[in-house]
Amino acid sequence: MEELSFLEKLHNLQDTYGYIPEREISNLAEEADISRAKVFGVISFYSMFYTEPTGKYIVRICDSLSCYVNDSEDLVKAVQDYLEIEDGETSKDKKFSLEVVECLGHCGEGPVMMINNKTFTQLNEKKALNILKECK
Ligand code: FES
Repeated sequence: MEELSFLEKLHNLQDTYGYIPEREISNLAEEADISRAKVFGVISFYSMFYTEPTGKYIVRICDSLSCYVNDSEDLVKAVQDYLEIEDGETSKDKKFSLEVVECLGHCGEGPVMMINNKTFTQLNEKKALNILKECK
C-alpha cells in the first residue's frame, strides 16, 4: 500500500477530528523526524487546517474588493449578529465558526459565502440568514 503524503495525513486528521490535535502534531513530527514547530508551520500555512476544534459549520465570508463593493460588510455584520459571534470565533453550541476571508474565487458573483465546502453567491443579508437557518 502506498504511503500517504504529509498533506494527506493532515487532511485525514482534519477530517477525523475536525481539527489537528496536539498529540497528533507530536506523532507527525516524530514520524517525519522533524520538529513540532515545523509541523505547526505547515498546518498554519494552510487555511483549511485547524489546531482547535471548530463549529460543525465553518462559515467563510469574503471581504476582498469585488465582494466589498457589493456590500459584503453588511453581510458580515448580519451574520455576526445572527450567530452572536465575531470573526474567528465559534458559537457556544459549537455549531458555527465564522471567518472573514480573502477572495473565495467567485469575484463576479459577490458577495460570496462558503459553508464548509459549499459556495453561495450573489447574496444579500436575507438570503444569507435563510441559508444559515437551514443548517441543522
Ligand atoms: S472578491 Fe470575493 S470572491 Fe473574489
